Amino acid sequence: MRITPLQPTSAEQRPRKGVVDAFARPLRDLRISVTDRCNFRCVYCMPAEIYGERYEFLPKPQLLTFEEIARLARVFVKLGVAKLRLTGGEPLVRQDLHRLVAMLSPLGAEDLTLTTNGYLLPQQAQALREAGLKRITVSLDTLDDDIFGKMNGRGFSAQRVVEGIRAAEEVGFSPIKINAVVMKGVNDHTIIDLARFCKEKGYVVRFIEYMDVGNRNGWKLDHVVPSREVVRRISEAMPLEPVEKTYAGEVADRWRYVDGGGEIGVISSVTEPFCGDCSRVRLSPDGHVYTCLFAGIGHDLRTPLRSGVTDEELEERVRAIWRVRQDRYSEERTLMTAPIPRKKVEMYHIGG
Ligand code: GTP
Ligand code: 5AD
Ligand code: SF4
Ligand code: SF4
Repeated sequence: MRITPLQPTSAEQRPRKGVVDAFARPLRDLRISVTDRCNFRCVYCMPAEIYGERYEFLPKPQLLTFEEIARLARVFVKLGVAKLRLTGGEPLVRQDLHRLVAMLSPLGAEDLTLTTNGYLLPQQAQALREAGLKRITVSLDTLDDDIFGKMNGRGFSAQRVVEGIRAAEEVGFSPIKINAVVMKGVNDHTIIDLARFCKEKGYVVRFIEYMDVGNRNGWKLDHVVPSREVVRRISEAMPLEPVEKTYAGEVADRWRYVDGGGEIGVISSVTEPFCGDCSRVRLSPDGHVYTCLFAGIGHDLRTPLRSGVTDEELEERVRAIWRVRQDRYSEERTLMTAPIPRKKVEMYHIGG
């Protein structure tokens, strides 16, 4: 486990333009959740069995408009954010998402990307590409239709998602990343098939340790397959060797096939937490800022936004929020065997 003690920020570590938190972590990555709705009911996120359809979603007037999102994103970019990622819920269920992409594209962030379940990609891939989206990550937990149907809670086939991935490929997104959450006894016996498929197609699959996000998925440590086990199993079938991270703070550890046939990633937030480098901030669909995936409450930016404050005042509010940030939930939880009992925001509210 590589938990490094986080040191308080010294005066010299405070950059002039950007902002660092209480442990000197910069603000680099903004994840924008555009809706809390989703057409899937993944067992690890919005389980249907227990809650049926009893999910309450935000009423439309509470959602930030595209104009409001773009204005906040501009403020974040001024504060040093280099990467914008659209999430949800499922971002493609928000009508005309490509219009938002077209508004974010000129802001000058180095990266503009999207995480989707892929279901609506065949209809939308082209418009998203033309609007300036740079990359796409598609969630696909297994190629086995029965298991996938159960995991997505809707009986949707893996084929449908594969068609979405193909559509993204056809309009020129490259490389395409695939996210797979690994749950012990559910889909872990299918990871080699998925790895092989992605290797053949040239997609970068990332296997994610099942996490205790939100309050509803009934997470237990026994349900987690440690990433080192995932790597061991895949490497037995198709040998792997480690690769350096592409950038500081990258959540995935990279492994490449020894035969030169591409790479995979593993995201080990349970067994090897990466809070020490965490530069991610999340904006909820109703304009609240969350400084951690496991935070209980967000900081309201919608009220000031709608009461006519200037961009400079918004910038100052974000600075004030980030400067005092001390979140490191995954590191704290790793020292325990159960989720830390506290009310957490739901993943479908603030995205992955
Ligand atoms: P790239 O930009 O392609 O490198 O993507 P990424 O590595 O930032 O990954 P992505 O946004 O697709 O996140 C993949 C998964 O990692 C998410 O769905 C979460 O399950 C997990 N994850 C991402 N960020 C965090 C984080 O800040 N904390 C924890 N605990 N997990 C995270
Ligand atoms: N554990 C790990 N990853 C999760 N995601 C959603 N819920 C969980 C969880 N409990 C990830 C999915 C999807 C992204 C939006 O969030 O992999 O790719
Ligand atoms: Fe929807 Fe994504 Fe949550 Fe699955 S993980 S229910 S696709 S928001
Ligand atoms: Fe960042 Fe919180 Fe995830 Fe740690 S648990 S990496 S602080 S979002």
